[in-house]
Amino acid sequence: MADVFEVDRYDAAGRLGELEVPRAGVTVETPALLPVINPHLQTVTPAELESEFGAEILITNSYVLYGSEDLREPVEQQGLHELLDFSGAIVTDSGSFQLAEYGEIDVTSEEILDFQYDIGSDIATPVDIPTPPDVSREQAESELATTEDRLAAAAEVDTGDMLVNAPVQGSTYPDLREQAGAHAAQSGLDVFPVGAVVPMMNEYRYADLVDVVSAAKRGLSESAPVHLFGAGHPMMFALAVALGCDLFDSAAYAIYARDDRYMTVRTTEHLEDLAYFPCSCSVCSAHTPAELRSLNGDERERLLAEHNLHVSYGELRTIKQAIRRGSLMELVEARARSHPAMLDGYRALLDHADRFDECWNVQPPFGPFPTELADGYPLTA
Ligand code: GUN
Ligand code: ZN
Repeated sequence: MADVFEVDRYDAAGRLGELEVPRAGVTVETPALLPVINPHLQTVTPAELESEFGAEILITNSYVLYGSEDLREPVEQQGLHELLDFSGAIVTDSGSFQLAEYGEIDVTSEEILDFQYDIGSDIATPVDIPTPPDVSREQAESELATTEDRLAAAAEVDTGDMLVNAPVQGSTYPDLREQAGAHAAQSGLDVFPVGAVVPMMNEYRYADLVDVVSAAKRGLSESAPVHLFGAGHPMMFALAVALGCDLFDSAAYAIYARDDRYMTVRTTEHLEDLAYFPCSCSVCSAHTPAELRSLNGDERERLLAEHNLHVSYGELRTIKQAIRRGSLMELVEARARSHPAMLDGYRALLDHADRFDECWNVQPPFGPFPTELADGYPLTA
C-alpha cells in the first residue's frame, strides 16, 4: 500500500499525524486511542464510543469471533462494521495474545488473515509470536524468525485495500528489536505495532519499555505509523507519544472498571478509597463516589468504564495540545513524577534523546520555558 501516514508536526519524537485507512474510508487523527471491544461483552458500545467520545478507531479480536458459536456466522454475514455498529476504522488482532497466554491457538496465520479480510477488517494482524521479556537469546531469535516468516507470507496475500499490521518482536534484546523493526519496515506491510510489552508494563519496567520501543523505532523508518500494543493506562500515554508511538490500545478502561478501579492521569484509585472525584467528566460531575458505590454492579461498571475512557481521551487531547505548543516534554516530566518507575522511563527517554535529533523541534531535553501563558498574559510583570 502507498504511504498511509502523514506527520503534521513534531515535538520530541512525538508527533501529530494522520493515518489514512482506505478500507474504512476514513482518516484517523493521531496519536489515537483504540479501545478494545470484546464482542461478547460491550461495557461501552462502539456506537457510544463514536457518539460520546469521538472515537475514530477501535480494536477487536478476530480470533474471538472466529471461535465464537454465536457470533461467527453473524459477523461473516453482516461484516464487522454492522455487527459492532461502528463506522470508523476497525483494527483486528489475530489471536497472538491468546497464543502467548495459553501456549497455542487452533488457526494458522493465513486462515485468520483470510477471516479478517472476509469480515471487513480495516487493519488486520498476522499471528506474530509475542516473545516475553528475558527469554534466552536463542528463543527470542527463533520466535522472531517465525514472526518474520508470517509477515512475509502476509505480504504475499492479496488483501485489497485492507491495511496489515507488521508487529515488531525481539523480547528484551535491543539489537533484535532494531533488526525486527528494519525487517518490518521492508515487509511492504502498513502499520507497525511494538509487541509483547504488556508484561513489561505489568511489572512497571518502564525503562526497559523505553529501550525496547526506541530500538524498534531505530529500525523502522521515521515516517512509519507505530502502535504500542496493549498500552492503555493514561499515565503512560505522554511518555509513549514522546517516544514516537502513534496508536495505543487497551482493555484497561473496562478491566479496571470491572473491579472498581478508577483511573487518573497519575494513578489508579480504588472506588472504595475515594471521598471525592478529582475529575469533571459527565460521570464524575453527576455522581459522588458514595452514589456510585451504591449502584448495582453492571451500572457501576459501566459508569467507571465511561470515566476511565473520559480520562484517557482527555489525556490524549492534553498531549496533542502539548505537541502543538512544543511542551510535550514538560508534560512527560510531570507525569513521570507520579511513580518512581515512570521516572525511570523518563530518564531512559532522555538517554535516547540524541537519537531523535532529526525530529526535535525544541532543544532537548526541554524546549525554552514559555515566557507567556497560553492566553497571552506574561508570566512576569
Ligand atoms: N496484544 C498485546 N501484545 C500483543 C502482541 O505482541 N501481538 C499481538 N498480535 N497482539 C498483542
Ligand atoms: Zn470522571
